[in-house]
Amino acid sequence: MKFGMNQRLSKLPPYIFVHIGNLKREAVAKGHKLIDLGQGSPDLPSPKHAIAAAQKAMEDVKTHGYPIANGLPEYRKAVAAWYKKRFNADFNPETEVLPLIGSKEGIGHLLMAVLDPGDAVLVPSPCYPVHYNGVLIAGGVIKLMPLKEENGFLPDLKAIPEADLAAAKIMILNYPNNPTGATLPNLQLLKDALALAAKHGFLVVYDNAYSEIGFDGYKAPSIFELPGAKEHAVEFHSTSKTYSMAGWRLGFVVGNAAAVGTLGKLKGFLDYGVPSFLQHAAIAALEGSDEPVRKASAAYQERRDALIAALKGIGWEATPPKAAMYVWTRLPREARGMKSLEFCERLILDHGVALTPGSGFGPEGEGFIRFSLIQPPAVLREAVGRIGTYLKTLKPAGAAV
Ligand SMILES: Cc1ncc(COP(=O)(O)O)c(C=O)c1O
Repeated sequence: MKFGMNQRLSKLPPYIFVHIGNLKREAVAKGHKLIDLGQGSPDLPSPKHAIAAAQKAMEDVKTHGYPIANGLPEYRKAVAAWYKKRFNADFNPETEVLPLIGSKEGIGHLLMAVLDPGDAVLVPSPCYPVHYNGVLIAGGVIKLMPLKEENGFLPDLKAIPEADLAAAKIMILNYPNNPTGATLPNLQLLKDALALAAKHGFLVVYDNAYSEIGFDGYKAPSIFELPGAKEHAVEFHSTSKTYSMAGWRLGFVVGNAAAVGTLGKLKGFLDYGVPSFLQHAAIAALEGSDEPVRKASAAYQERRDALIAALKGIGWEATPPKAAMYVWTRLPREARGMKSLEFCERLILDHGVALTPGSGFGPEGEGFIRFSLIQPPAVLREAVGRIGTYLKTLKPAGAAV
């Protein structure tokens, strides 16, 4: 057979959500009423005005042909206006904004467009899987930046070997962070990253997918709040989490015109961009009221508090995150010695609760578990009740609680 997987793809670890998805189906077949706290797919409804805009645009014959590959000018302008309003950052909608079929697509294709085989990329660990797998698919070499709990899950830029900095073409950063929920205490990390980018000539890829989901008044920054960032950085965002529109696949990248143009060139060969009627929905979301965003943050905050209180009730301590939609915590003491994947496999198959094992986010994720806050408080409490039952089966007889 000559048409097997190429070497780049065969190097990839199996995609964690595919494996967990198979186990979920198995659990349902066994008769469990599944509680899914795995993938970070928002359960909240998309804004009504975005739905109405898509419906209206769908009736217009102008949306029935191929979309413009680099997006409707109105969408690019709406993105630039949103960045101005939210972060006081200015972008030329023609050259510094590019619509995407979700930010995952954009990040993956940017890596393919920029990297030559063997090029190095500084990647956090743990990380959102495309930050890691996208580099391997593009034939690049990963230089891991460990995110340690004792550093608030921020990379220690001073610890990066000089040779890696010199070799790197890209550094990837993501705050509010998936999976850890960590936030930046101030802009210092971004300033330091930009200074290194200026010295070594690499591009900072800042993934800001969760900038609008903040708790207790927390508001995340953009890298473009820093002067000169456009020389060295691009930032990815999307309507997926901000407006609970993950299924619509509407993202965008802003920033360095050369990098944005490079990605646009590759996409021009591969896809026709986002369907036009959906771009109208994105415009409506970006230009519409902020209420859906505030409501989403309030809902995730309430769920965070409900989950953490319930976990405390079964003796599992977790630190409340300030942003994003995840609770990231070490395996409970009853599971000492178990790998995070084994812990999650048994929990799904025997108790019908799906979580994501930390190891699915990179080597530094081992020993951790990620809960997605994608169910209302009552369901989260039920899930924790089942987890409590599960933990009792793990505890060695007679062990102290
Ligand atoms: C950090 C991060 N970036 C990007 C994405 C992809 O989002 P989308 O492709 O829906 O814009 C996700 C999705 O979970 C994410 O967690």
